[in-house]
Amino acid sequence: MGRAQEVYVVVVGSSNFDIVVRAERLPKEGESLLVKNLQFFPGGKGANQAVAVARMEAKVSFVGAVGQDMIGDFLIRGLESSGIDTTWVKRSSERATGCAFIMLFPNGNNCITVDPAANLALTPADVERAREVIEHADAVVSVLEVPIDVVETAFSLARKAGKLTVLDAGPPRHCPMEVLRLADVVSPNETELAHLTGEEVSGRVSAREAAEKLLARGVRTVVLKLGSDGSMLVTPKGTMHFPPYKIEVVDPTAAGDAFTAAFTVEYARGAMIEDAIRFANAAGALAATKLGAQPSLPTRQEVEAFVAQRIGG
Ligand code: RIB
Repeated sequence: MGRAQEVYVVVVGSSNFDIVVRAERLPKEGESLLVKNLQFFPGGKGANQAVAVARMEAKVSFVGAVGQDMIGDFLIRGLESSGIDTTWVKRSSERATGCAFIMLFPNGNNCITVDPAANLALTPADVERAREVIEHADAVVSVLEVPIDVVETAFSLARKAGKLTVLDAGPPRHCPMEVLRLADVVSPNETELAHLTGEEVSGRVSAREAAEKLLARGVRTVVLKLGSDGSMLVTPKGTMHFPPYKIEVVDPTAAGDAFTAAFTVEYARGAMIEDAIRFANAAGALAATKLGAQPSLPTRQEVEAFVAQRIGG
């Protein structure tokens, strides 16, 4: 298997400023609800994945957009301090930096509202400008928190150059089949899968059936994130379930991003897809044990130690 340091991933995606509070419950419409533990974190699905890839010891370039504001400066500085190439991060003069408003509940679940703002200013032309890095990458990862034509351009360029393409299908939204078909691997959670297929998804059986619908429409491989039920690989050859690691959930935010990043690096460096998913399961689980998006993303050493400890009982 290739060394992780030799893997190069380009992430075309979103970056947000996460405003996080703990709440007992959702407010009702018209209600002002007191919440607590206000904290700020760098986040955004794409940027989280870029940081997670860097922590997996792979090389990473991030293609994205932030506003011309202090928050945009803060997010770019954070990416650079993780060793990420930010040459292709655009500064929008028209839109503010994206923000996510995150509530954490006592049962360990979260609830996120996002204004992608500047993330929506990213254009296919911006991605074309990054063509050179895309053509040099081993893998290109994208998310649905940027315009769909951006994802389409990134994956079209990557596929023409013979690169691995991985779509983290979050946040939940419709995505045309011609774009899904450009991904070697489509990786949704249950809610995202429901949006992609129009099916009700709840639990392994309905998730497998919905994933099979994607396969029937031309998607090659689905890697499903099932949260506390682990993950599932669905391909034309069959289905395989990967049990979860038992952990104490502190904050599930960015667990899926840690999963996608770890999966991509392992798969791109030549691991069997099943092994890449097992490793990603561990990375996702570890991310859920810490508060915040980017601060929670584990390093390769942490994931390896966690796996070794769990195998040792
Ligand atoms: O996947 C987690 C991310 O979703 C958060 O960091 C938030 O910014 C939203 O984009």
